[in-house]
Amino acid sequence: RRPHLSTTGTSSFVVVANRLPVDRVSTADGATTWRRSPGGLVTALAPVMRAYDGAWVGWTGSPDDAPEPFSTDDMDLVAVPLSAEEIALYYEGFSNATLWPLYHDVIVQPEYHREWWDAYRMVNQRFARAAAEVAAENAVVFIQDYQLQLVPQMLRELRPDLKIGFFLHIPFPPTELFAQLPWRRQILEGLLGADLVGFQRAGAARNFESLAENFTSAVLRDETLVLPDGREVFSRAFPISIQVEEVARLAEDPEVRARAATIREEVGAPRYILLGVDRLDYTKGIGHRLKAFGELLAEGTVTPEEAVLLQVATPSRERVEAYQTLRDDVELQVGRINGDYGRIGHPAVHYLHSSYDRSELVALLLAADVMVVTPLRDGMNLVAKEYVGARADLRGALVLSEFAGAADELGEGAFLVNPHDIDGLKRTMLTAMRIEPAEAEQRMKLLRDHVTSHDISRWATEILTALRAI
Ligand code: ADP
Ligand code: G6P
Repeated sequence: RRPHLSTTGTSSFVVVANRLPVDRVSTADGATTWRRSPGGLVTALAPVMRAYDGAWVGWTGSPDDAPEPFSTDDMDLVAVPLSAEEIALYYEGFSNATLWPLYHDVIVQPEYHREWWDAYRMVNQRFARAAAEVAAENAVVFIQDYQLQLVPQMLRELRPDLKIGFFLHIPFPPTELFAQLPWRRQILEGLLGADLVGFQRAGAARNFESLAENFTSAVLRDETLVLPDGREVFSRAFPISIQVEEVARLAEDPEVRARAATIREEVGAPRYILLGVDRLDYTKGIGHRLKAFGELLAEGTVTPEEAVLLQVATPSRERVEAYQTLRDDVELQVGRINGDYGRIGHPAVHYLHSSYDRSELVALLLAADVMVVTPLRDGMNLVAKEYVGARADLRGALVLSEFAGAADELGEGAFLVNPHDIDGLKRTMLTAMRIEPAEAEQRMKLLRDHVTSHDISRWATEILTALRAI
């Protein structure tokens, strides 16, 4: 273990994200353990942090929690405390009931509340101050995601010497949607505090540039936004990825492979296992997937002996109303399908509302014949890339929504679908189940060529090189 960090500004590389890569978990006897935090941001950035040896500034996931800077799993962590009220207003409110639905195509109606915005500003200021204290002179500070869009500008005011990068892990909406936001100018100006603003898709960078031109005094010149004081802000797509070796190593592990075989037996050794792995989020299209599978069973196109759907849904944002409604809806749908088509010992859908460790997750990926990834909107979707990373055996098929960022890169090898088109989704799921091994192999090769040559270390090199070059 490395010695504790001092907060006197010694880190030459600092990541700032709402969450630390680990969550505090209190055990029954009052002791603390740390568990990997949910979501793709942590999956992507944890290996970057280990490689670049910096400090990670973020929240522990518990109210009023402010441990001294500490190290875990080869990462130096600096906690920013949030009170219970701030969690309600800034995290559950503005971040996850205003920005998240607005940026994901208004699948759920965003709510606009001034007191949520006030808390968002205050908490962003706290993160900016924490980053300013940790960063060494001329350090690179890399701010993450929609919860912290004001931090670039706030940090620049505190520390003009720093090189500031920002990356948005989720989609950036088109003008017509973004323009709803009562605080649109402030958010854009917050982002313009960075030297570089990175997005998942090229269209998102274009949305940002034209919004900045519309609502702030920035002007676009040669693909760079120029501010009135002459400072330049560069924006571009840097599609994020996974650490392929980590998934590949687990997929080769004999214990994980044995576990995959056991999973197949445990779900009744059907001919086809379809798999969904998502945070339980309304953006993921879990309901559309269940509807399509339910209709295939209803028509008798497939039987529950022949095909099962394994749906892993990680608990997420459980105090936000839209997530509670979603959980009820999904569980009602699963119950109906199993009630109508399941038999004793043969449910048609195996639904698991739980989070698993990496080896169990990879065992699930190896057990699946068809990975079904059907978000209605998703910044990237790393689960799709993890499936590809695990399938060195060149088996299995990927059904992928065209509304996931990953579709830009994986469109050739995957079966692309529009999840709103239930008939199309049913047809594609069937085609993927019945794929000939030779075609599966050919498609998986295409997918693997891309994912293995565009892994997370390449992403980090590209975005950090672009930032340092500014
Ligand atoms: P998001 O960031 O919206 O959650 P991604 O697909 O980009 O979506 O990333 C999700 C990450 O969380 C992946 O690394 C995936 O393996 C992991 N994950 C999802 N569900 C589970 C689960 N039930 N248990 C453990 N890890 C999970
Ligand atoms: C997505 C977001 C992340 C977020 C993660 C988990 O990946 O882009 O910023 O951390 O979901 O969500 P949570 O609200 O639990 O942090």
